[in-house]
Amino acid sequence: MREFWIPALSTPMLPADKPVGFTLYGDRLVFWRDAKGEPRCAPDICPHRSAPLSLGRVTNGDVECPYHGWRFGGDGACTHIPTLAAGTKPPARACLTPYPTVERWGFIWVWMGTPALATPDTIPDYSAWVGPGWDGFEDTFDLDIDHGLMVENLLDPSHIPFTHEGTLGKRGDAKPLDLAVEDHPSLPGAFVGLYKNSTVQSAPEQRFRFFPPCVVILDFQLKAGWHFVQLQHCLPVAPGKMRLHYRLQRDWLTSIPGMNLLMTHQSRKIVAQDVAMLAGEQARLDEGFKPWNASVDADRFALRYRAWRARHDRPEHWQGRAVTAVGASVSPDPAPTEAA
Ligand code: FES
Ligand SMILES: [Fe+2]
Repeated sequence: MREFWIPALSTPMLPADKPVGFTLYGDRLVFWRDAKGEPRCAPDICPHRSAPLSLGRVTNGDVECPYHGWRFGGDGACTHIPTLAAGTKPPARACLTPYPTVERWGFIWVWMGTPALATPDTIPDYSAWVGPGWDGFEDTFDLDIDHGLMVENLLDPSHIPFTHEGTLGKRGDAKPLDLAVEDHPSLPGAFVGLYKNSTVQSAPEQRFRFFPPCVVILDFQLKAGWHFVQLQHCLPVAPGKMRLHYRLQRDWLTSIPGMNLLMTHQSRKIVAQDVAMLAGEQARLDEGFKPWNASVDADRFALRYRAWRARHDRPEHWQGRAVTAVGASVSPDPAPTEAA
């Protein structure tokens, strides 16, 4: 689960002058921009006294701890300790271990696996859905739900007539579904599900894409030349906790004032319908029930994800905090010496 790029934040969420904290797989992270404006990420734990760096500030492209003002560069090196006499070196343990970070398609992607395996070519290609000719809006929801339940919900065309009655569908629309799935040609684990809705002429084709570990892209053709593309990021914050961050893109009615606001309002109603269902499902999982007990062909896309997750999810992927920070460790530590 860790050897993948995760779109942790969107570009507007990371200003030039302030660090931002976020948690993935239970690891506290701090993001900031260096002097060139490039995004950087490291454990959100100061190697001096474990204070949260994300409450600090950005000074000349370095993140500065709010507790005693120690500063760290984008490479993790300690660049300044205010109380050190000139010419004195910072302690060897006073450094951060940064995570590889790339800004692309309007998002900040972070790699929480083996740094040597982090090649930006495995970031999913959003070029068909962003840039000139597209308009859209973003929204964020912090939820006490396993992120995989949301991934499965988004990959599930058969819940729409029921869960989304009154917004997206009506129960009378339910019928056998014509579904097909293909592997992505070059990204292992990624796939595209095709749903041909032959009875609704205005919505003939819907594509459900999954990019591991947590991206779902829904590409709904509303009518010829009109695409409604949902870039859905189901971020794995901690066991039983997730952030849903989405950008909903359209290539039609792009310059109508108020359209984004109207669609924001409607999409929040739709998310609330999903959350009511998933929170109830999560409550049952917490009592020991399973996410899948029986399945039918209409569950095909979600099952493909569940099989991928069963192959890749390991308990240790969610417990990385002891190994992420040099000098900031939750393992038993020798007593500090006077000037360690
Ligand atoms: S805890 Fe960060 S500088 Fe002291
Ligand atoms: Fe839904």
